Amino acid sequence: MKDPFFSETILDWYARNGRDLPWRRTRDPYAIWISEIILQQTRIAQGTAYWERFMARFPDVETLAEADEDEVLRLWEGLGYYSRARNLHAAAKQIAAAGSFPDTLDGIRSLRGIGDYTAAAIGSIAFGLDAAVLDGNVYRVLSRYFGIATPVGSTAAKKEFSDLARELLPPGKAADFNQGIMDFGAIQCTPVSPACGTCPLSGSCRAFKTDRTGILPVKREAKAASVRHFSYVYLRSGGMTAFRKRPAGDIWQGLWEPLLFESPDGTGALPEWILTLSPVLLREGFRHQLTHRTLLTDFYRAETEEKPELPEGYRWIKEQDLDRFGKPRLVEILLEILEGKD
Ligand code: ADE
Repeated sequence: MKDPFFSETILDWYARNGRDLPWRRTRDPYAIWISEIILQQTRIAQGTAYWERFMARFPDVETLAEADEDEVLRLWEGLGYYSRARNLHAAAKQIAAAGSFPDTLDGIRSLRGIGDYTAAAIGSIAFGLDAAVLDGNVYRVLSRYFGIATPVGSTAAKKEFSDLARELLPPGKAADFNQGIMDFGAIQCTPVSPACGTCPLSGSCRAFKTDRTGILPVKREAKAASVRHFSYVYLRSGGMTAFRKRPAGDIWQGLWEPLLFESPDGTGALPEWILTLSPVLLREGFRHQLTHRTLLTDFYRAETEEKPELPEGYRWIKEQDLDRFGKPRLVEILLEILEGKD
C-alpha cells in the first residue's frame, strides 16, 4: 500500500464518523445499486426518502423488472434526470433475465446506466471487490492531501487519481475505505471551509501545510466560449427601418435589433429575399465577446422603395425614433458604422 497512514486514518475516521444510512445496513446488491443510482445526482438528505419509497414499492429486482415504466417514473418524480429511472428499469430486466445480480466489475459495468464510479461502488460495497471509487469527494481529498494540482475533469486527472486511489485501497476493505473517503469528503474535507482544525490528516496534508486548501482541487478551465455567427441587415425604406424586440429564451431578451440572420458557420446566412435587395457589406466578421460566447457578425445595409413583408416579429419603426429603443451594444456598433462614426 502506498500510504498506510492515510488509508488507516480514513478507515478509523469512518468507524467513528461514518453516516448511518439505511442501505449501509444491507449487503443486498439490489438495494445498494438503487442507492448509488439515486445518489449519482441527488444529495443524501433528499435521496434517502426516495430510496425508502422505492424499496417499499419495488423490494427486489423482479418486482422492478415487472413494473410499469410509468410507475417507476412516477416514483422518481422530483428527483430529476429521469433517464436514471428508465435505465434502472431496463437494467432490472437485464438482471432478471440473467437470473442474478452480476458479481464482477465487468458484469456490473455491463448494466444500463452504470459507469466506472457506480460499478466500483456496487462491486466494493455489495461484493467486497477491491475496486476504488472516484467521485468529487475522492478527487478533493486526494488532491488536497497529496498536493496534486492536475486539473480535475481532464483525462489525465482521471488516470492519475484513479491510479492513486487504487494504490491507497486497503485490500479486503474497499467497502469501508470507499465509503469512508466519500463521507470524509462530505463532512470533514468539505469544498468550502474544510474542518482542518479537527482533521486527523492535517499533520501530513500538503494543502493544509502550504495553505492551499482554497486552491485545491484545481478545476479545469471553463470551456472556451462557443462561437455564434450573426448577420445583421439594416434595412431602410422611406425613413423607416426593420427592427424587432428580441424574444425570451436567448441573449438580450427584450432589447431591439435589426434583421438578424444566424447560421451555424457564418456561410449562407442571408435569405434570397434579402439578396435580391443587393445588400452592402459594411463590416465582415466583427468580433464581440460575451461572457460565454463570442459573436462573429457581418453587418449589412440595404435599401428598398417598396416595403417587403418582414419575417415574424419584425416591424417598421421610424429611424428618427431609434434612440427610444433599448439596443444591445453590438447593434449600437452597427448604427455607429452606419453613421460613419467608427
Ligand atoms: N455518495 C454516493 N454514494 C455514496 C456512498 N455509498 N457513501 C457516501 N457517499 C456516497
